[in-house]
Amino acid sequence: MTTPQDTYTHGHHPSVLRSHGARTAQNSAGYLLHRLQPGTRVLDVGCGPGSITLDFAELVAPAIVTGIENVETPLEVGRAAAASAGIGNVQFLPGDVYALDFPDQSFDVVHAHQVLQHLSDPVAALREMKRVCKPEGVVAARDADYAAMTWFPATEGMSRWQDLYRALACGNGAEPDAGRRLLSWAQQAGFGHVQSSASVWCYATPEERTVWGGAWAERVTSSAFSSQAITRGFCTESDIAAMARAWHDWVEQPDAWFAVLHGEILCDPTS
Ligand SMILES: C[S@@+](CC[C@H](N)C(=O)[O-])C[C@H]1O[C@@H](n2cnc3c(N)ncnc32)[C@H](O)[C@@H]1O
Repeated sequence: MTTPQDTYTHGHHPSVLRSHGARTAQNSAGYLLHRLQPGTRVLDVGCGPGSITLDFAELVAPAIVTGIENVETPLEVGRAAAASAGIGNVQFLPGDVYALDFPDQSFDVVHAHQVLQHLSDPVAALREMKRVCKPEGVVAARDADYAAMTWFPATEGMSRWQDLYRALACGNGAEPDAGRRLLSWAQQAGFGHVQSSASVWCYATPEERTVWGGAWAERVTSSAFSSQAITRGFCTESDIAAMARAWHDWVEQPDAWFAVLHGEILCDPTS
């Protein structure tokens, strides 16, 4: 079987991994927490640096949680974080969501956070997640919706950032406005019973603005975002610098506010 060779728009620069590392089961998987208890076997596909994966491990101990990634760099970050937190019931393994290296019906929960939006064939990925999920288990996914992001104050530099990110992701065959499409993708993957919900990340305090906006100020200049944008002729170095300035200015604004809408799905694998 051939699997798509997708380009991951964000890349794995330290600024990206640091930003992803701020995620927790509480702030990113609240819709799934009621399905996690001691003994639940979890597969976390596209686990990134593994901060959510490690929270899952604490919630389901002594069961082993498995995080998989098709790139080694974030797996190393996850393993180091597990060692430093003394969490032993987790493994970070190389793997591809399109061709999971596990037998049918291996896991109680098969989870993907902010992964389907980066794939050229999210429906194929959901079918493969369904295959490795036990009949009494659940396939869970949550994705942001870039077009639905909203913030204050409006600035040209941040609007330009939003437009550019969406153009880059679409150019990679991905879908930046994934949140609104999760239910449709799950239905196309053959799930009959899907519980669909939405939730937001909101950044409003000085600390929250620094975590979100400070990370983006660095990501636009240093991550794969800028190299892809410039190489493909979408913008110039000075455009990138203007976007970074806009993010820095937003962080400093005392009344600045940003909301990221997400779609969420809980899919019954037997349906
Ligand atoms: C936005 S990150 C999300 C990381 C983590 N789930 C989180 O929310 O912190 C998406 C991750 O999916 C991974 N990914 C992309 N395509 C993949 C594939 N085909 N199989 C496994 N992982 C993949 C990327 O390497 C990236 O680390």
